[in-house]
Amino acid sequence: MLEKIEELKNKAKIFTIENLESLENYRLAFLSKKGFLNNLFEEFKVISGEEKREIGKQLNILRQEVEGIFNENREKFSGSAGVNKSNIDESLPVFSEKIGSTHPISIVKNNILEIFESIGFTVENGPEIEDDWHNFTALNFAENHPARDMQDTFFVNKEPIGNYALRTHTSSVQVRLMENEKPPIRALMPGRVYRNEAVSSRSNCFFHQIEGLYIDEKVSFADLKQTLYYFVSQFFGEREIRFRPSYFPFTEPSAEMDIFLGTATEQDKRLTKGTGWLEILGCGMVDPNVLQNCGIDQEKYSGFAFGMGIDRITMLKYGIKDIRQMFENDVRFLEQF
Ligand code: PHE
Repeated sequence: MLEKIEELKNKAKIFTIENLESLENYRLAFLSKKGFLNNLFEEFKVISGEEKREIGKQLNILRQEVEGIFNENREKFSGSAGVNKSNIDESLPVFSEKIGSTHPISIVKNNILEIFESIGFTVENGPEIEDDWHNFTALNFAENHPARDMQDTFFVNKEPIGNYALRTHTSSVQVRLMENEKPPIRALMPGRVYRNEAVSSRSNCFFHQIEGLYIDEKVSFADLKQTLYYFVSQFFGEREIRFRPSYFPFTEPSAEMDIFLGTATEQDKRLTKGTGWLEILGCGMVDPNVLQNCGIDQEKYSGFAFGMGIDRITMLKYGIKDIRQMFENDVRFLEQF
């Protein structure tokens, strides 16, 4: 009997199992009701006396080994989802999985955020459907003020309250921040904004902005300029910059900042309308009325704000000629970034 056990052990060890089919054959031969193992146990029943203990022990060891081989192989072959390896044609071409890429607007947005985060700015978000107060009134756009015409707006009627709009700029987030936090405030507000403009290769009815806000004691226009110089040097490299006086209801004084591209290439000529200068952002010192509207002591605090469109900067950076391409979700376009 002990010899038989030894023999069976070896048989199990050298049995070739190479797929699910041969694994099943193994099971039938060794572990089924009529298999070798059960037969031995049947024989064992009639043994008596001295031998029984030793044989019983060896029989149990044998069973463990035979079952061990089965379990090990079952894991191995059902691991490959039960695929019979010999049925796989390894010479067939592989269809590679498509992996998405970061959208060019997100790349540029993240770049800009990183630069300002490195000098202590935090990032804030707000709602895209905004009420009149946060989008206009708190920002010093008087009722019927002609400045409200500066930005053609998509109004949303949210009954029964009414008077909502798709935000026309992320300055609305500045208002929310000033209402909720005490200075010093140093934050960036990235986000999508909406304007009722004719869609063309150069403008869209929605686009992306990043605005910045810094409020503290004794903040001056010099701080604004230095902050923007630093940003331009990090993002565009060393370039000439100029500030032109401008007007926004919520800043006083206000300016527009241009960077010098030159007119060396056709694209530079087109973008700068032949002047070499490209407008990048609007900025200014936060109007004291706005500080007051938001509950900040305008005697004690002052601040600056700026805002830029990410879409145009992205087009400039990557030489994209039509703004609409960025929103068509065409993978041939998106794959390039
Ligand atoms: N909110 C202005 C716009 O959308 C940009 C801006 C922000 C200008 C902050 C000055 C200060 O055009």
